[in-house]
Amino acid sequence: MKKIPHLVQYQGSKRNLATQILRFFPNKFGRLIEPFAGSAAMTIACASERKAERFLLNDLNKPLVDLLKLVIEEPEYTAKKYKEIWTEQHVDSIEHYYEIRNKFNLTQDPMCFLYLLARCVKGSVRYNSEGLFNQSPDKRRKGTNPSQMEKNIYDISSLLKGKVDFHSLDYKNIFNMALPGDIIYMDPPYQGVCGEKDSRYFSGIAHAEFVEELKQLIKKKISFVISYDGQCGNKIYGNEISIKAGIKHIELKAGRSSQATLLGKNEITYESLYISHDLINP
Ligand SMILES: C[S@@+](CC[C@H](N)C(=O)[O-])C[C@H]1O[C@@H](n2cnc3c(N)ncnc32)[C@H](O)[C@@H]1O
Repeated sequence: MKKIPHLVQYQGSKRNLATQILRFFPNKFGRLIEPFAGSAAMTIACASERKAERFLLNDLNKPLVDLLKLVIEEPEYTAKKYKEIWTEQHVDSIEHYYEIRNKFNLTQDPMCFLYLLARCVKGSVRYNSEGLFNQSPDKRRKGTNPSQMEKNIYDISSLLKGKVDFHSLDYKNIFNMALPGDIIYMDPPYQGVCGEKDSRYFSGIAHAEFVEELKQLIKKKISFVISYDGQCGNKIYGNEISIKAGIKHIELKAGRSSQATLLGKNEITYESLYISHDLINP
């Protein structure tokens, strides 16, 4: 199986599921739109399988989008800058991490963000209520080695350079840009019945509003695939997208959960997908 490149470990990434989810996409289509791009795993996988030639990447997290843009459009600069920041840490690695974290919170510099992503605990970003990045460093690791990072950057850039439009807007603005022939892949942060924002991201989305927006997409005959697990922390609430017409719900067998494997259990996890009808019955 072809190895799909990725930039850094990123909690919530669809990297391991991307190939399975892509089976629901046609072999060739115009443009893939990711309104909740995160680490852009689906876009990278889709480019790697040559299913689309144009892409739109959006995420409300601006430094993340700025970083994706640098990686894709300026790989040489990005790899060089990462090496510089990474190499500075040899004096006091932990102290260095906190310095970069402070700098990032003051400047929103995407290169600081890349180092933090590569170096923080389990690649899991965390924000406090003021939107400041507050995740700690992984004390056992120094973060992706610069030569490996350079390879990751160039592998991604070679697939996507010159093919992507970048935005950092609320997802509803991106829905308005979609045209028939595009496919929107959505992996929203789930807020559901939690009531609080999810500290993994500095924003959540309201379920009811999201459902209304989807109805508009169906009306406009825009194709889409949604990963929507109804999960809040470790609890599954099973809050479903209740639209009946124009959409189909599928439980994709996603394999054994890593948590269950650790506990010696044999639990299979499922990925909840909602797919517009035209992609199921072309
Ligand atoms: C579950 S993550 C996406 C992970 C992605 N599929 C991947 O493979 O890495 C959800 C993303 O939505 C972004 N987000 C949160 N609220 C948003 C909004 N209102 N509009 C656009 N993006 C938003 C977050 O910053 C986060 O990166």
